Amino acid sequence: MNPLELEQKADRLLLTLRKKPGVYFKITALEKTLKLDKLGVVEALAEIKKWGYKIRTRPDAVAFIKAPDHLTPTEIGYRLKTGIIGRNIVSYRSVKSTNNLAAELARNGAVEGTVVTAEEQTKGRGRLGRNWYSPPGTGIYASIVLKPKFKPEKAPGLSVMTAVALADAVKKFCDGDVRIKWPNDILINGKKTAGILTELTADKDRIDYVIIGVGINVNHGAGNFPDELKNIATSLRRVNRRKIDRVEFLKTFLVNFENEYKSYGRHQLKKAHSRIRKYSSLIGHEIKIQLGRRLIEGKVVDIDSTGQLILETDGKKIPIIAGEVTVVKEQTMS
Ligand code: BTN
Repeated sequence: MNPLELEQKADRLLLTLRKKPGVYFKITALEKTLKLDKLGVVEALAEIKKWGYKIRTRPDAVAFIKAPDHLTPTEIGYRLKTGIIGRNIVSYRSVKSTNNLAAELARNGAVEGTVVTAEEQTKGRGRLGRNWYSPPGTGIYASIVLKPKFKPEKAPGLSVMTAVALADAVKKFCDGDVRIKWPNDILINGKKTAGILTELTADKDRIDYVIIGVGINVNHGAGNFPDELKNIATSLRRVNRRKIDRVEFLKTFLVNFENEYKSYGRHQLKKAHSRIRKYSSLIGHEIKIQLGRRLIEGKVVDIDSTGQLILETDGKKIPIIAGEVTVVKEQTMS
């Protein structure tokens, strides 16, 4: 059997078994359903076990017990309730950066909604030229290829849109205080848990592609963070004090992302506005923001439907498209 044939047989067998976890299927029945001989079933089973699935066997029957905690196309795509996002999934064990790979795929014609994941990044990139710490097996490092029809001016709000989809997913899996630090950091109890790196390739009036990269600290333990991150970063596991199913988390995020993206195409952030306000860690706060060489100070009063931060400074309201924010004063109750 060639490797591709074997993989396809193993996939079909896996799909059949996992319909009823814990239930034993007679090997003779599987031979019939899958149109395989006994050797075919045995080889497919060995392949599934090699992928890390827990399978129990009896002399004449087998049962699916548990999927491995691996981000693979089969696992992510299994009953994924999206139409566009994740219709093509590519997963790697170790890459330099999933954003780089996704961009390469997009240039070579990858469909909109292609998702690239990795168990580890050796050169994970953050915003403003920073690194994104990406140890193996604990985090989610994923990039989504978008090819929107709208004009490039509309692209900057995609970061805030992604932040809302991510914050909703974090909220579903975690009991802490979930906040968005505009434009694209997710904080739990004041510590950074996830970041978004949006990269646009466009000419004056047409978007070629956008890569949305998300890095999420899911199952990092205390000892997993390097010294410089120990006090400012956290993970879902540290907050919840238990491990999180990374595949389930990613699937939840992808569904949220698709819904927000559809809505964004029609209404930009109008439908998400109340959630953006609810999650914002900055609205109502005095901040300093670095805009190129200028440092502006003011009070954040809103985030508008295009994703811009609205800063009140010297009695004027100015919209800010992007920048690095430092909070200078906590909100005072009046
Ligand atoms: C930030 O907060 O500075 C953004 C971090 C974005 C990290 C993700 S991990 C997946 C994707 N690939 C990268 O190289 N970066 C993004």
